[in-house]
Amino acid sequence: MQSVLVNLLKSHRSIRKFSEKSIPAPWLEECINAGKAASSSSFIQCTSIIRITEKNLRTQVMELSGNQSYIEDCAEFLVFCMDFQRHQSIAPKAKLGFTEQVLTGAIDVSLFAQNVATAAESLGLGIVYIGGIRNHPKELCSLLRLPQQVFPLFGLCLGFPQQAPEVKPRLPNAVLVHENVYQSLDKKLLEKYDETLKAYYLERTGNSKSATWSQDIEEKFAREARPFMKEALLSQGFLIY
Ligand SMILES: Cc1cc2nc3c(=O)[nH]c(=O)nc-3n(C[C@H](O)[C@H](O)[C@H](O)COP(=O)(O)O)c2cc1C
Repeated sequence: MQSVLVNLLKSHRSIRKFSEKSIPAPWLEECINAGKAASSSSFIQCTSIIRITEKNLRTQVMELSGNQSYIEDCAEFLVFCMDFQRHQSIAPKAKLGFTEQVLTGAIDVSLFAQNVATAAESLGLGIVYIGGIRNHPKELCSLLRLPQQVFPLFGLCLGFPQQAPEVKPRLPNAVLVHENVYQSLDKKLLEKYDETLKAYYLERTGNSKSATWSQDIEEKFAREARPFMKEALLSQGFLIY
């Protein structure tokens, strides 16, 4: 079996160094067209994209997002939001603010964004998602003038790559595909994967480090990430019920 698309998907790696070349407008348009072709739960179409073109605004977003320089350097920076404001305008009596709405919204927006990302990569562009935009959600909502019922989920940098990082090894399928019922973690497979990822980290061209995936996970889950998130969602009208 040979599929150009499957090979493209499997060759994904995040790009954090971009050339100054801008993305032709029709290319970006087509990436958005690919994004909106994604499935949408009950066809709610709740994705909104804030395209940050103003230089000074881009700098401010970068500063609110952990000063990740590629937010400033990339050709295009898109902030993906779940947006139920449209729905409220259409149906002023709409019942909003439910936990399920957050799940539906986050799923819909992610499917849209991943189509954009894949379309971009198919054109030879590089991408990196930016969860860092949730470091200061209240400030970002105010900076981008996001109304109630709109919440920024992640950013996406797009541009022509100026680096060629190696593909990062993923967990083996046997660990993440469970047949019929849930299977407990196979520690032997995990150990093998830890060694594979450690070797990748040591040998990769940029940002070499010595750590296994398990060590990374232990560190990552040692404390709550972004403990202000519930309050930020509440203040935009989400998670009320
Ligand atoms: C929702 C989301 C948020 C992310 N946020 C960031 C980020 O803020 N900064 C960054 O450099 N990479 C970010 N990433 C990229 C991940 O670190 C990256 O996808 C992961 O390490 C796997 O590496 P790869 O994409 O090169 O295969 C994010 C990825 C996702 C899906």
